[in-house]
Amino acid sequence: MMGSMGRLLDGQAVAAAIRADVLPGVAEFTSGAGRPPGLGIVLVGDNPASEIYVRNKVRSGTESGVWVDLQRLPATASIDDLLAVVNRLNISERHDGILVQAPLPEAMGRHAAQRVFDTIDPDKDVDGFHPANVGRLVQGRAHLAPCTPSGVIELLDRSDIPIARRYAVIIGRSDIVGKPMAMLLLQRDATVTICHSRTADLPEVASRADILVAAIGRAGFVTRDFVKPGAAVIDVGINRVSDRATAVSLFGPSSPRLADFDRRGSVVAGDVHPEVAGIAGALTPVPGGVGPLTIAMLLKNTLAAASARRGGR
Ligand code: GUN
Repeated sequence: MMGSMGRLLDGQAVAAAIRADVLPGVAEFTSGAGRPPGLGIVLVGDNPASEIYVRNKVRSGTESGVWVDLQRLPATASIDDLLAVVNRLNISERHDGILVQAPLPEAMGRHAAQRVFDTIDPDKDVDGFHPANVGRLVQGRAHLAPCTPSGVIELLDRSDIPIARRYAVIIGRSDIVGKPMAMLLLQRDATVTICHSRTADLPEVASRADILVAAIGRAGFVTRDFVKPGAAVIDVGINRVSDRATAVSLFGPSSPRLADFDRRGSVVAGDVHPEVAGIAGALTPVPGGVGPLTIAMLLKNTLAAASARRGGR
């Protein structure tokens, strides 16, 4: 099996296609409403990864004709400060979608994110994290589904990878990715298993998957022994590696990625070890895989929320 390379799934290209599909809807909404769809993004503190994600969300939204209103709060803000911003966006006429970037500063407390998601108007909840939207997703009648897992479904569909009747294994049980990913795959008639850090015989379970989704947040965790030859492997991980030995073990001593590390002092790695490329039938790269899809789906959800608020569907 070594030496043969699985197909690389181009998240960048699929994201561009989704954005192109959204564009006419944005134009139609804008001429009908006399204003563009509006998206409020709230960023608390200065988490470096969140800074980059939010910058990309602002840029991509703006380029697609969405009005993006970035609200920043200092890392010292209280949960009440944050809830006040959310409540203001909830009642605003111009904001159709609201997104509060996670994670929140630890000082806000362990349940801060859930309190925030509980407060966002479900009709403006473009992340799909409000319990009403989670419930609708579980019942198979979501209006707004979480962006990363719905982006993965779009990627599979647009890459002609069948879902129905396939066995899907998800590693990771987060509310943001793992759990909603399971629901979306289930709705498409996959047979689904959710694994996590305490799953027994994890490689054995994973290696039965036709579709393997890695969303655990540990660089290179998914090695060859987790993967059935020919499986579609979706790497949701975006991990910053700043230890050189780890970078060498992931990318080898003479790779361009290691040269990146030596230039910058760190490198981004997925949850899937690069050696899996030799065994997977299809694989998403990191970066350039799932990341761009999340943002494209955010724009799609923003347009859907805006249209629904104007009395559309
Ligand atoms: N942090 C990581 N992924 C996400 C996401 O999809 N939405 C929000 N709000 N925060 C995130």
